[in-house]
Amino acid sequence: MQYDKILADAKSERDWIVDVRRRIHRRPEIGFDLVETNRLVTNVLGELQVEHRSGIAETGVVATIGSGDGPCVALRADMDALPMQEEADVDFRSEIDGRMHACGHDCHTAMLLGAAKLLKGREADLPGTVKLIFQPAEEGGAGGDRMCQEGALESPKVDRIFGLHVWPYLPTGSVAGRSGPLLAAAGELEITVHGRGGHAAMPHACIDPVVTSAKIILELQTIVSREIDPLESGVVSITQTHGGSASNVIPPSVQLRGTVRSLTMDGFRFLQKRVTEIATAVAEVNGCTAEVTFPGHDYPPVVNDEGLWEFARGVAGEIVGSEAVEEMPPVMGGEDFAFYTQQVPGCFAVVGVGNPEKGTGHGLHHPKFVVDEDGLPYGTALHVAFALGSLETAD
Ligand code: NI
Repeated sequence: MQYDKILADAKSERDWIVDVRRRIHRRPEIGFDLVETNRLVTNVLGELQVEHRSGIAETGVVATIGSGDGPCVALRADMDALPMQEEADVDFRSEIDGRMHACGHDCHTAMLLGAAKLLKGREADLPGTVKLIFQPAEEGGAGGDRMCQEGALESPKVDRIFGLHVWPYLPTGSVAGRSGPLLAAAGELEITVHGRGGHAAMPHACIDPVVTSAKIILELQTIVSREIDPLESGVVSITQTHGGSASNVIPPSVQLRGTVRSLTMDGFRFLQKRVTEIATAVAEVNGCTAEVTFPGHDYPPVVNDEGLWEFARGVAGEIVGSEAVEEMPPVMGGEDFAFYTQQVPGCFAVVGVGNPEKGTGHGLHHPKFVVDEDGLPYGTALHVAFALGSLETAD
């Protein structure tokens, strides 16, 4: 396998990849409603004469390059943006108020389209099929789950899958990942504490849900600190409290919202169970009631297949040099790539787009998030190399 040639080819497409990325960046869309992004992706695939099916999970696209038969390796990109206002100082800033590609999914889509271009040029030599999965609704909508349910991993059946995330915390030209759990099982929690409202001057005539919710918030902190093994990881964070409308009124109820995270599904279910028990019991001893729900989609943890991370680390070393490939500790962020790894062996890795000289000091989901676009050809090259290396070594 000529890995140097792959990086050189990807770098020669740098301007093409960056142009695609900026076109997506200007027109961010949210959730499953990715009409313009879908059109751009299908147009580019059409221009490249890459076979594709659109309309999977509403606006998802699955493209295939190669023999149309097995072995089959899948490469996945997410396409959705976030509901936040962009403040980055770039001339291709979001043209839509209140929406921004602040998690780099525009980069992921462009890197994968770059890979489509390079792989199409090698199609005649592919000993199998490369499937390119462009999915909507990574940010909370479990779009990956829908893609799986609607057959993205079938016909041909996917044997293994790779995903990449741009990572502003690592320098351009570097790659990181690990074997086993990489990203957390994650989900939302919502607690409504019901008391009895009334005049703030007569607390004895009321049942105060504000004080009770404060006790619940504090009591929840002991789940992670006192109930789980210190060597395991967990997060229980209350991030929103809503209640009351006046300084002299005790409100009838208070709403708390937050997040629960663990590196294992068992750990995650344990945290949910204890949140429910503690909130309910603390409410009760204070004369209140608590309704506890876990709205939205619970994401399983992203667990990298051990053999595939070994493979990916080796291949990445050929592309960027082995000194630029790092083992990274797990991160408690969630990623719906997890839904694919529940079905087939998978490996998720991060690719550096950090370069302080280009103002990349802001993290993911920051309104001033900026990437070093010179990192994008590395992502394209990694996708191509993961695909080619996988087909070459398949039985
Ligand atoms: Ni993301």
